[in-house]
Amino acid sequence: MDDSPYFRPAALDDILMDAAELGFTLSCEDRTGSLLATLAASKPGGHLAELGTGVGAGAAWLLHGMRPDAHLISAETDTVRQAIAAKHLGHDPRVAFETIDADTWIDTYSGPPLALAYVDCRPGKFHRLDDLLDLLEPGGLYVVDDLLPQPTWPSDHEPRVARLLSQLPARTNLVGTAVSWASGLFVGVRT
Ligand SMILES: C[S@@+](CC[C@H](N)C(=O)[O-])C[C@H]1O[C@@H](n2cnc3c(N)ncnc32)[C@H](O)[C@@H]1O
Repeated sequence: MDDSPYFRPAALDDILMDAAELGFTLSCEDRTGSLLATLAASKPGGHLAELGTGVGAGAAWLLHGMRPDAHLISAETDTVRQAIAAKHLGHDPRVAFETIDADTWIDTYSGPPLALAYVDCRPGKFHRLDDLLDLLEPGGLYVVDDLLPQPTWPSDHEPRVARLLSQLPARTNLVGTAVSWASGLFVGVRT
């Protein structure tokens, strides 16, 4: 079985070229992106969020799957990284890039309940998990990646991931599945 994606966002290769020039190595991998696009396609009219834009690879995949009436907010603290995402994707009226700490974003988000949250930084993943889940609509999707050891992990990161993986099954408002595929994923549904 060839599990490599059979579609590719138009802007992705240019985004990855800019990432390489910047030395940014944390973009999601293609299989994860393909899954993000697939899940995003299941949420017509949905309000989606990505915490940790990076340079926009994940956003490109999400936008690829999103229906015309869906919306994406992507939050990031690093203006240089996010400017690359905005350069390649900012023309798309479905996306808003917000330069904001994800902790603050979780505290201040006042839009409609989220249909999907792709959480790719610490707030909403390694802490503030309950607060993030509270922002999801019933049936809303919670997606995190990089749960298998990555060369980019700092030395103290493994226990953090182990703690998250042990805590997720205890959530009474989440049904999910950990997947040893791509960089290691968890896909959950807010009940
Ligand atoms: C793994 S990268 C994101 C990759 C991107 N989501 C993708 O799929 O291509 C994580 C990003 O989160 C950003 N970040 C880290 N802590 C953050 C925080 N507290 N709030 C917002 N962004 C944060 C980093 O600057 C980095 O660009």
